Amino acid sequence: MSFIVAIDGPAAAGKGTISRAVAEHFGLAHLDTGLLYRAVGARVLAGGDPVAVARALDPVDLENDNLRTPAVAQAASEVAVISDVRSALVDFQRGFARRAGGAVLDGRDIGTVICPDADAKLFITASPECRAARRHKELAEKGIEATFETVLADVMARDTRDSDRATAPLVAAADAVQIDTSDLSVDAAIARAVAVVEAAHRRKR
Ligand code: CDP
Repeated sequence: MSFIVAIDGPAAAGKGTISRAVAEHFGLAHLDTGLLYRAVGARVLAGGDPVAVARALDPVDLENDNLRTPAVAQAASEVAVISDVRSALVDFQRGFARRAGGAVLDGRDIGTVICPDADAKLFITASPECRAARRHKELAEKGIEATFETVLADVMARDTRDSDRATAPLVAAADAVQIDTSDLSVDAAIARAVAVVEAAHRRKR
C-alpha cells in the first residue's frame, strides 16, 4: 500500500527526530529533503554552479559528513530560493514518496508542493529560542562550535528567507495538523505525531 506522510516546519523544529520516529513506527522509508538542499549548498560553497549541481546530484552526495554545519545550512537556504534548483530536485523527491510500502518526507514544501495528496500532513513548530537552543546543543554534541546568539540569528535568517521566497515558500498546508513542540518532551511530540498518522492510516485501510 502506498502511504505518504509529509512533515514540514521551520529550521530545527524537531522534524528530523519526529520523522525518523514516525517512519520507524509505521515501517516507512524516510527522506530528509533538507539534505538535498544542503548537498547542493555544500557543492556551491566549493565553487559549483547551483543549478548544474542540483541537476547532477547523486544520492551518495547526501551521505557527506559535512552537511550539518551552520555554513552549509545557510548555503542550502540560499540555493533553495532558486526555482531551477528546486525543480531539479522534484522528481527525486516524488519518486521516493511513491515507493512501494510508503514513505515519510520532511522539509518545507512537502505538504504543499511535493506531495499535496499526502495521506497525513504535519507542520512542526517551536519558538525561535527553543529551536536555537536545541540546534546549539546538537552542534555542540557534534563538536561544532557556535554561540547561542549566532545559532539563533542563523535560524531566524533561514526562516525569513524560506518564508519570503517566491517559489515553494515555507507555509503550513491548509490541511496540515500543527504541533508546537516548544513545551513538549521528545516522547510527547513523537506520541502526538504518531497519533495523527495513525488516524490517517486507519482511514486509508
Ligand atoms: O535541519 P534544519 O531544519 O535546520 O534544515 P534542513 O531541513 O536541513 O533544510 C536546510 C535548508 O534547506 C532550509 O533552510 C531550506 O532553505 C531548504 N529546504 C527547502 O527549501 N525545502 C525543503 N523541502 C527542505 C529544505
